Amino acid sequence: MCSVVGYIGQRQSCALVMEGLARLEYRGYDSSGFACVDNETRRLMSAKSAGRLSQLVTRLQEKPIDGTVGVGHTRWSTHGVASEANAHPHFDCTKKISLVHNGIIENYLTLKKELEAEGHVFLSQTDSEVIAHLFERAFEQTKSCKKAVMQLVSQLHGAYAVVIVMEEHPELLIGIRKSSPLCIGVGDGEMFIASDVLAFAGKTDRVSFLPEKTFTLVTKDKAAVYDFDGQLLDLPVEKLDSVWTATEKQGHEHYMLKEIYEQKSAIYKTVSLCQSFGESVWNSIGISADLIKNTKRIKIIGCGTSWHAGRIAEFFFEEITRIPTTAVLASEFRYRTFFPELDTLYIAISQSGETADTLEVVRMLNAHGQKVLALTNVASSTLVRESEGFLLTQAGPELAVASTKAFTTQVAALYWLAARMALERTVISDGQFKQCQEELLMTANILENGLDAYKYQIFEKLALFYSNFSAFIFLGRHSTYPFALEAALKLKEIAYVFAQAYPAGELKHGPIALIDEKTPVCLFSHPDPLIYQKLLSNAQEIKARKGHLIVFAFEGQTELQALADTCLMFPAVNSHLAVLSMTGVMQLFMYAIARARGCDIDRPRNLAKSVTVE
Ligand code: F6R
Repeated sequence: MCSVVGYIGQRQSCALVMEGLARLEYRGYDSSGFACVDNETRRLMSAKSAGRLSQLVTRLQEKPIDGTVGVGHTRWSTHGVASEANAHPHFDCTKKISLVHNGIIENYLTLKKELEAEGHVFLSQTDSEVIAHLFERAFEQTKSCKKAVMQLVSQLHGAYAVVIVMEEHPELLIGIRKSSPLCIGVGDGEMFIASDVLAFAGKTDRVSFLPEKTFTLVTKDKAAVYDFDGQLLDLPVEKLDSVWTATEKQGHEHYMLKEIYEQKSAIYKTVSLCQSFGESVWNSIGISADLIKNTKRIKIIGCGTSWHAGRIAEFFFEEITRIPTTAVLASEFRYRTFFPELDTLYIAISQSGETADTLEVVRMLNAHGQKVLALTNVASSTLVRESEGFLLTQAGPELAVASTKAFTTQVAALYWLAARMALERTVISDGQFKQCQEELLMTANILENGLDAYKYQIFEKLALFYSNFSAFIFLGRHSTYPFALEAALKLKEIAYVFAQAYPAGELKHGPIALIDEKTPVCLFSHPDPLIYQKLLSNAQEIKARKGHLIVFAFEGQTELQALADTCLMFPAVNSHLAVLSMTGVMQLFMYAIARARGCDIDRPRNLAKSVTVE
C-alpha cells in the first residue's frame, strides 16, 4: 500500500526521505510527493508527481527544495485517480500544514461536506486531504499540537498512519497510528518515522513501533508517545535485525528472481528456527500444549498467496496430524456467520503481518476469546502483536510484489508444524517426525536443483513460445489444485495474462468447453498413484480435444509425459511435499513469461505489496 517516510534532524531531509521512499516503493507506486520546511524560505514547500518515484526525483533535481524536516509518500490509489493533485502530501487551506497518509478515512465524505460548509477548499479527490483540514481546524481551536491531534483522532473513522510537518513548528514531526503501521527510527540527533523499518534500515538500528491508537511528537532528539487520551507512554526502543537491511538485487535482474533463488536457504533457516525450539516449542510459539493436544479443528486464515499456502496445508494437517482443517479467505470469512469454537486452533498467515483483511479477522477472533497463532515473516508486525502466539518464517525481506520465498517458507513452516503437532498428539513417532524434517530439507534441495536444471530451457525456449498466448488454464488435484491457483495468480499478476485455475476433476463440469489449441493447459501432477491416474485421464480428455498440454510430472509418470507438448519432470518425493518441489520451477516459468512480455516484474501495475486497506 502507500508508504510514508519522515525525517527530522541535522541533515537535509530530501535525500533521506527519497531513499526511504525508494526502498518502500514496492508497496505502492502510482504517484509520490515530498514536502519540507525549506532551508532558505523557512516556508513549507512541496513537489509531487504522478507515476513512478523516478519522476518525482527528476522534478526535485530540476527544482530542488530541502530542509532538516521533511515528509514523503508513495501512493497506491484508493480514493481518486493517480494524479499530481491526488498525490500526497496534502495541505490545509493556509498551506502551513502538510501531511502524508496511509490508510482509508471511512467518514471522509461527511467530514469533507462539513469542512466545505465552513469554507475549507479542497484540491484533491482523496480521503486524506480531510485530515489536513481537520487538523487545521483543531490546531486553530486548541493552539496545541498535542490537543489538536487528540481532537483530530476523535473525529476520524478508519485506518491511518499519518505524518505531519508544520511550518509553524519546524522542530517537530507528528506521527499518528490507527490500524496502519508506523515506526520511529531513533538516531543520534535525528529521527525517522516510516510505515516500515526498511525505510531507515542502515541509517539507524534502533526502532520503536508505535502501538495501536497512539501518536508521537518527534523532535530530532526525542519521541514523546501518547495514547489517544493524551497519556504519555513509555515505548521501548528495540534493536533492528540486520537481515532486514540486505535489500540489494545482488546481480539479479529483478528482486523476484533473486527471491526465487533464495528459497532453499530461506526454507533451511525456517526449519532450523523451528528445530531450535526443541521440547519448549509450544511455549516458544505461545500456544498452550493443552490446546495443541485437544484441538479438534484448525481454521487457517489468509489472503492471496498466503491463503494458497494455507489451502496446501489443509492436506498436511488432515493427513499427517489427523485434524479437520479448512483454509478460509480473510475477506470472505469476516462477513460470514461466525460460530465460536473453543477447541479450534486458528492460524493466521500473512507474509507482511499487516494485511488489513487478515488483521480484522484476528481482531474479531480475539474479541470472541479464540486462540490465534500468527504465521508471518515480520517479527515487528501488527499480526504478531495482536495474536496469542506466533511462528516466524525466515524468508528475510521480500521486495518483489509477487510473493515467492514467503510462500515456500509458509508451506515449509506449516508442514513442520503439522508434523510437530502430530508428534505431540502421538499420531506419529519420533522417528517419523525426524523423517518429515529430513524430507522437508531434501525437498528444498530439489526445488533449487530444479531451477538449475530448467533455467536454460525456460528462458531460451519455453518463455519465448508461451509469452505469445493470451490465456492459460491451470489444473491440479488434491494439494496440486491450490498450487495451480498460486501458479495462475503468479501469471496474472506479473505477466498480465488471463489465467484460470481449476480442480482437474471439475474440467468436465463446464470448463472443458474452453479447451482448444490457443489456450495452453498447464497440469500439475501428483505423486500419489491414485490421484495420478485421475490426472492422467484429465490429460487424455484435454488431448482428445486438441488442447495444448504443459505438464509438471514426477519421475516414472511416463504416460503423462508422453501426452504432454511440454513436460517438466521432478524427482519422486513424499507426496505431501510434491508442491514444494515444483514451486521454484513454476515461479521461474511464470517470471520468464512476464520477462519475455516486457512486464515490470517487481512492480506490476495496479498492485502493491502489503495490502493495508480492506
Ligand atoms: C501475490 C501476493 C499477494 C499476497 C496477499 C497477502 O503474489 O503476494 O496475494 O499474498 O496480498 O499478503 P500477506 O501475505 O502479506 O498477508
